[in-house]
Amino acid sequence: MIIAKTVAQVREQTAKWKADGLTVGLVPTMGYLHEGHASLVDKAVSECDRVVVSDFVNPTQFGPNEDLEAYPRDFEHDCALLEKHGADMVFYPDVSEMYFPDAATYVEILSDMPKMLCGKTRPIHFRGVCTVVAKLFNIVTPDKAYFGQKDAQQLAIIRRMARDMSYGIEIVGCPIIRESDGLAKSSRNTYLNADERKAATVLYRAVTLGKRLIQEGERGADKVTAEMKKLIEAEPLARIDYVSAADGVTMEPVDKLDDGVLVALAVYIGRTRLIDNFTVGE
Ligand code: PAJ
Repeated sequence: MIIAKTVAQVREQTAKWKADGLTVGLVPTMGYLHEGHASLVDKAVSECDRVVVSDFVNPTQFGPNEDLEAYPRDFEHDCALLEKHGADMVFYPDVSEMYFPDAATYVEILSDMPKMLCGKTRPIHFRGVCTVVAKLFNIVTPDKAYFGQKDAQQLAIIRRMARDMSYGIEIVGCPIIRESDGLAKSSRNTYLNADERKAATVLYRAVTLGKRLIQEGERGADKVTAEMKKLIEAEPLARIDYVSAADGVTMEPVDKLDDGVLVALAVYIGRTRLIDNFTVGE
């Protein structure tokens, strides 16, 4: 596996692959890789001739009081996992390689889409995500790019950005990978102490309850989210950020849980903010 630290190195290699007629897949990550990330790499390897994984903790998507400094990192472990899953190149740039000190250009969706759900507590987050992903698209010029449904709003926003900006890159969504007790795998799960780890299953328990109510015929968004909230509120270590039903494409709030509606939640467990979601009818 090639370890590339510079933009020039990535460009040179992907240009060679393309000249040879090979297709290129991109899996953007912030590292500290787990089986959720690995599932994206597996999918990319199965669909593309060459796979590039970016491993970059992107400062522009963290707010001033968020966990940029504390965000876990382990590049050696990441390389071992990526080798095992058949990635061809990992792009591991320094911040100075990705951002000029006076960088002043952003890619931002100006509809309400990035202001909904996670955007309420993380107002600059999706501007940072779109900007770094746009840069990665320009550097790697992949045929396909892979994102997890775990970050459902991010996936919807990237789809919109890729469409609006005519990238011509196919955006592939991949299912949520979970621990055996249902907790969605996340690099941030390492922040949880033993009690919090147990309490964190409340997100998946709420997802399961929501799905069950819908299966039983309930289609009122307020009804279902209220029951999910009640369940979460019974967990002393949990504090709800939001439990919401939104249009799966625009992220606008909806009243009725038709197929394709996204039911998403963000919950603080202690000081750690965790997210989960499901799509009605899937
Ligand atoms: P990160 O949190 O490292 O996630 C990288 C990709 O892995 C995202 O597409 C995310 O949805 C996916 N992923 C994470 N946990 C998953 C799980 N349990 N199941 C399935 N997929 C999972 O998301 C980011 O990084 C950044 O915002 C990024 C897109 C790289 C831009 O900086």
